[in-house]
Amino acid sequence: MPTVAANPDHETRTSEGVALGPVLADAEFDFIRHVVNENAGIVLGPNKRQLVQGRLARRLRELGLPSYEAYCAHVRESGPEELVDLINALTTNVTAFFRENHHFEALASYMIPEALKRNLDSRRLRIWSAGCSSGEEPYCLAMVLTEVMPPGIRWDTKILATDIDSEVIAFAQRGIYPLDRLEAVPQERLRRCFRKGVGANAGQALVQPDIARLITFRTLNLMQNWPVSGPFDVIFCRNVMIYFDQPTRERMVSRFAALLAPDGYLCLGHSESIHAGTAPFRLVGKTIYRKQGKGALEG
Ligand SMILES: C[S@@+](CC[C@H](N)C(=O)[O-])C[C@H]1O[C@@H](n2cnc3c(N)ncnc32)[C@H](O)[C@@H]1O
Repeated sequence: MPTVAANPDHETRTSEGVALGPVLADAEFDFIRHVVNENAGIVLGPNKRQLVQGRLARRLRELGLPSYEAYCAHVRESGPEELVDLINALTTNVTAFFRENHHFEALASYMIPEALKRNLDSRRLRIWSAGCSSGEEPYCLAMVLTEVMPPGIRWDTKILATDIDSEVIAFAQRGIYPLDRLEAVPQERLRRCFRKGVGANAGQALVQPDIARLITFRTLNLMQNWPVSGPFDVIFCRNVMIYFDQPTRERMVSRFAALLAPDGYLCLGHSESIHAGTAPFRLVGKTIYRKQGKGALEG
């Protein structure tokens, strides 16, 4: 088994002399961690050096840069432009159709029915998938919505789907998924909501227009301004805040609270939580928080 060693010309080589690419030294690692934390809120712990080096290796090759020192100089000089690629490379975009399915069950069984009652006058329904990655989450929201909306009555229904990573947003917007990523989608939904490709497109499926038209995809950095129009009836922000530090999470949760309708819901990822008693939220299900209505807060 060949061992791996760093050499002074900033390259990693195996004991057989095969070059594996430039090495990320302390100073450059610290710089990248700092820039990513400042701009995206993402905390990269000291144990993430290999991950950062691995993910940025391709970017160095694309730019034809020989070392991380040269790459960091490039980040400093090019400013916001390279920042987009740097952050795109370092986000973790793991997701799946009907991931943490209990949220979609709750959406169908009480979140949407309650909103339909509450908003009877305005006939307006808004859902936000914040940190939507490659689109699986908002497409699932749309599939469920089309099943539970009352037939025949027109509602102004919109799903906003945002992510900091411009590449995943571009992918999501295309609405084309390899069939193996659709295995968790029940057959009936698959038939109704996707069109399977044939010929050159075999092995993939396209989201049907009546599902896709419910969703607006946008790049949005949760660390910056949110040019969005609330109030939202439901916000999904799942498996996003785990990458942030505690003060950032707390700030984010209060910003979500401000944008939620009274009695609206915030769904978090399986390992995320809001401290018990953090106004105005009450835990009502597994990682499901209800924003207490005005009366409940006063009482
Ligand atoms: C692990 S994925 C979660 C996807 C989906 N919500 C789910 O649970 O399946 C986390 C997503 O958060 C996004 N993200 C990370 N930092 C962000 C930020 N500051 N603003 C917006 N999105 C961010 C990443 O780009 C990534 O796509």
